[in-house]
Parts: sequence; structure tokens; C-alpha cells
Amino acid sequence: MNNGVRVKISALGTYVPPRVLSNHDLEKMVETSDKWIMERTGIRERHLADKGIATSDLGAEAAKQALCRRGMKATDLEALIVASVTPDMMFPATACLIQNKIGATGIWGFDISAACSSFLYALQVGTQFVKTGAQKRVMVVGADVMSSIIDYTDRATCVIFGDGGGAVILEPADDGLGMIDYLHEIDGSGACSLYMPGGGSLNPPTHETVDKKMHYVHQDGQAVFKFAVRKMAEVCDTLLKRNGLTGKDVKAFIPHQANKRIILNTAERLGMDLDKVIINIDRYGNTTSATIPLAMQTAIDEGRLKKGDLVLLAAVGAGFTVGAALLHWAY
Ligand SMILES: CC(C)(COP(=O)(O)OP(=O)(O)OC[C@H]1O[C@@H](n2cnc3c(N)ncnc32)[C@H](O)[C@@H]1OP(=O)(O)O)[C@@H](O)C(=O)NCCC(=O)NCCS
Repeated sequence: MNNGVRVKISALGTYVPPRVLSNHDLEKMVETSDKWIMERTGIRERHLADKGIATSDLGAEAAKQALCRRGMKATDLEALIVASVTPDMMFPATACLIQNKIGATGIWGFDISAACSSFLYALQVGTQFVKTGAQKRVMVVGADVMSSIIDYTDRATCVIFGDGGGAVILEPADDGLGMIDYLHEIDGSGACSLYMPGGGSLNPPTHETVDKKMHYVHQDGQAVFKFAVRKMAEVCDTLLKRNGLTGKDVKAFIPHQANKRIILNTAERLGMDLDKVIINIDRYGNTTSATIPLAMQTAIDEGRLKKGDLVLLAAVGAGFTVGAALLHWAY
């Protein structure tokens, strides 16, 4: 993957809706406690979108911030890839809605859905376009309004998720920095461990699918947890080894924020110093496609991500989907 044009992230933008739902708020909604949620997940609070605010709204805000920071006009972009499991609608693609909201006329784009690995997969697809020279400026947006598919009477899922958006711009790198390598894998045998059964072609929406709560996230938490700790470490380890690296070489480990225990377990298995691990799940919960860009922003804000740093990204999600990417931070 080192041959040809190197591709870098040249700008980052993020957005979370202002409304905060704390663990103490949840204590009043379901039988749970701040102590249980903190101990089992590491989450203290999450941001939720108000009614009428959609994934494209969060994505467009993050996109505008990334463009502004890069000093680029929306029309300078050539492609827009949107990662999400909560598109505004089944169709048109959320990419079209964000393209229109930011005024990026004359570009092309599409959506990618790989659950919590969506952003990582979209980042790789965008990288390939720039790498081949087909496009020079590609935006990748990861955004989700998870609250639109969560049952707020189900304590096993409602404490975990939050809403948010992030965006990066990909461009050719002329200084040797940028994306180095990636390793992704899907395993559909895990499809029944985390899914939303209703609304698709298998179970189109009916009164019955609504009554049976089929339009909400269903998960076998322990099965997901076990897969996550095993596979996230495995792909990261293989990726590091084939690049002649170990966990000790990584300056910032920026994983998908699903559960603090999954993140720490993965870091330990990789022999990483825990001060290299970026965690912000306490503030945002699991925002699905937005966790990695939000965590990148946290790393920058905390002064833990600098130009030239070796960064390891990793994600795991429904599907199952899993993946990791190595890069040198480029600005
Ligand atoms: C969901 C998750 C936090 C549950 O934690 P856990 O330690 O595995 O807990 P369990 O599912 O074994 O449940 C233990 C008990 O806590 C209860 N419980 C579940 N949610 C609870 C909550 N919010 N508050 C209090 N108790 C809760 C269960 O009912 C169970 O009670 P029981 O022993 O009386 O049956 C954890 O499994 C997890 O994070 N899994 C991965 C999920 C994930 O990351 N999904 C997105 C993937 S990208």
C-alpha cells in the first residue's frame, strides 16, 4: 500500500448536537445506575439530536467545519462518501443530502454502511480514489443519529449509544506522511448478534413490525463484546506485524468507542502504553460512524496527536465488521 501516491487526512471537522443525556437522566427512564453504566461501559453522558434533526444535519455541520479549517470551498471537493447506519431515509443517499446542504455542486458521492466500522471502511475507499489519482479531494463523513433506532425502555442498549458526526478531507500527500496500510474483514455469521430487523426488504415496515419493536437495535451484548476484544486485537496485531511494528511504536491508538473495557483490553493485548490510547466514550457514548473522527478531535484537543505521529485506528461493529488502519498524522 506504500506504492504510488500517499494520501493524507488534511482536515478534520466534528459536530455533536447540544442536548446531553446523562447517566442520571437514564436512571429516571430505566432501571439502571450511573455506577453500573460507568463500570460496565465507561460512559457518563451522550449527546442526542432533537426531533427533526437528521444524520445529514450532523454530517453537514462537521463537513462545513472541516472545509473551513482547510480553507477550502465545498465546490473544491470532487467526491463525498458518507458512512452511516442511520441514513435520513432509505433513499436518496445521505451523501446527496449533505452534498446539497453544504453546496458541493458538481461532485459525486455515495453512502457506505458497515455499522461501527463504517467510517474506517469509507476512509479506505476514499483513500483509494485519491491514491489512484482518480480524485484529488475527497471528503469522508461519518455521522449517525443512533437515538432514532434505540428503544429507550431497553436498558441493555439505551445506555450505550449517542449521536454525532465527523468529517475528514483526503488529499495527496507530498511529504511522505498519511495512510500507510489497512486490514479489514467481515464475518456475516455474527449478523444475529447485533442488528435492526425491521424496515428492510426482509421485514418491511408494518404495524406488526412496530409493535414487535423491530425498528430498534437488538444485540447480544456478550457475544459482541467477546468478538470485539478478540478480533480488534487480532487485526491490529497482524497489521502492525506486517509493517514491522509493534504496539509500542504507536503514538496514538484511536479506536472505535464501543465500550471502555473493549478498548483497554485491546490495548493491553497489543502491549500498548495506556497513555497512547484515546478514549472519549465518557462524553459521547457509542456514536457508531462518528466515534473515530470525534476521538481524533479529542486527541488533538488534548495535545496527544502531532504531525508525523504513527496512528493506529481500529473498529468493530455489527455484521460482524472489523478493521484497522495505520497512518502518519499529517498536520
Ligand atoms: C452491553 C454490555 C455493556 C453489557 O455488559 P455486560 O457486563 O456484558 O452485562 P450482561 O449483558 O452480562 O448483563 C449483566 C446484568 O446486567 C443487567 N443489565 C444490562 N443492562 C443494564 C443496565 N443498563 N443497567 C443495569 N443493569 C443492566 C443485565 O440484565 C444482567 O442482569 P442479570 O444478571 O440479572 O441477568 C456489554 O456486553 C457490551 O458492551 N457489549 C458490547 C456491545 C457493543 O459494543 N455494541 C456495539 C458494538 S459496535
